[in-house]
Amino acid sequence: MQFREANVTFDAREVLRRALYPGYDADIVTLGIVEEIAPLADGGVTVTLRQGGTREDVMREVAQQVRELLSGELKLSKVEVAVRRLEPELGERTGRVALDGVRYVVAVASGKGGVGKSTVAANLAVALSHLGYAVGLLDADIYGPSVPMMFGTAGARPQSAGEQRFYPVERHGISLISIGMFLTERAPVIWRGPMVMGAVRQFLKDTVWRSRDFLIVDLPPGTGDAQLTLAQQVCLDGALIVTTPQDVALLDAARALKMLRQVHCPLLGVIENMSYFVCPDCGEVDEIFGHGGGERMARSENLKLLSRLPLYAEVREAGDRGIPVALSEPEHPASRVFLELAREVAAQVEGQSQ
Ligand SMILES: Nc1ncnc2c1ncn2[C@@H]1O[C@H](COP(=O)(O)OP(=O)(O)O)[C@@H](O)[C@H]1O
Ligand SMILES: [Mg+2]
Repeated sequence: MQFREANVTFDAREVLRRALYPGYDADIVTLGIVEEIAPLADGGVTVTLRQGGTREDVMREVAQQVRELLSGELKLSKVEVAVRRLEPELGERTGRVALDGVRYVVAVASGKGGVGKSTVAANLAVALSHLGYAVGLLDADIYGPSVPMMFGTAGARPQSAGEQRFYPVERHGISLISIGMFLTERAPVIWRGPMVMGAVRQFLKDTVWRSRDFLIVDLPPGTGDAQLTLAQQVCLDGALIVTTPQDVALLDAARALKMLRQVHCPLLGVIENMSYFVCPDCGEVDEIFGHGGGERMARSENLKLLSRLPLYAEVREAGDRGIPVALSEPEHPASRVFLELAREVAAQVEGQSQ
């Protein structure tokens, strides 16, 4: 009897892998929507689903798929479906998520988008890996996931690691997870608010990182709920703030810094990106976005200015090609800036924990 029950649960889980979550390429088992499958005494099962979003019709559709698949494929006499309601404050109430196998978590943050946060996160990950560390990169930027493009993983899906867990996608020696790896074209429409936070929490909890020295987190830009919740959910060992020399970007960055201080995250320093443009023909330096902003900010916030990264066509091109510049052109001046940054980050984080 016990054997039969175990089989039913196992089979049911396997069959449910065929149920795609509406709007997604991923199935409901991989996405963690299926919370539990319990056998009933008369040969049926109860499936408990975790509510994925705020839309009731989506959950009804999922429940219908579950019933049809299980009664159709497994010929179960009875299929009960229960839905556990969304708890938006789950993160806050249950405390921080422990990331299995990760030694240090370092976040890359910015006050607004487009300042080069993802470029810094990707190249920092590559540079740390170059220094011999085992590195993971978590793309938590739900508004504009860019890791799949920057690492050329378009179409790659995280493989299931059994239960609800999954393995990151490996590329260029880095373990990668991005919300973009679960999205389809249609998805952003239903990808809102509490659901996003639920999904990110899921990522944090259910990714099998194996042993990583560093996990770099590409945080969403800004200072809204999404960043705050994330910063609260992971125990961050340090954060870097990326800004441009422009005054508006600096103001935004200052707000992001305040938020990171609120959650007691150690601030490792400021990276001024797009600091200047060196004319490839004449070598002339053009400070198109203003001058000395990163320095002023570092001074007023009592932080280190860790790097000043100029604008280079190669940085953008490398990102677009799916191989970060620090990997494709290790001798490039930008790559040297990233290597220096990686050394500094490692020294600060490892020093802190001793
Ligand atoms: N130092 C740089 N030189 C040239 N292009 C850059 C540089 N930093 C970022 N970019 C480009 O600017 C765009 C925005 O950068 P990205 O890292 O995606 O910003 P964010 O993550 O802050 O939105 C990308 O096309 C990227 O390739
Ligand atoms: Mg980005």
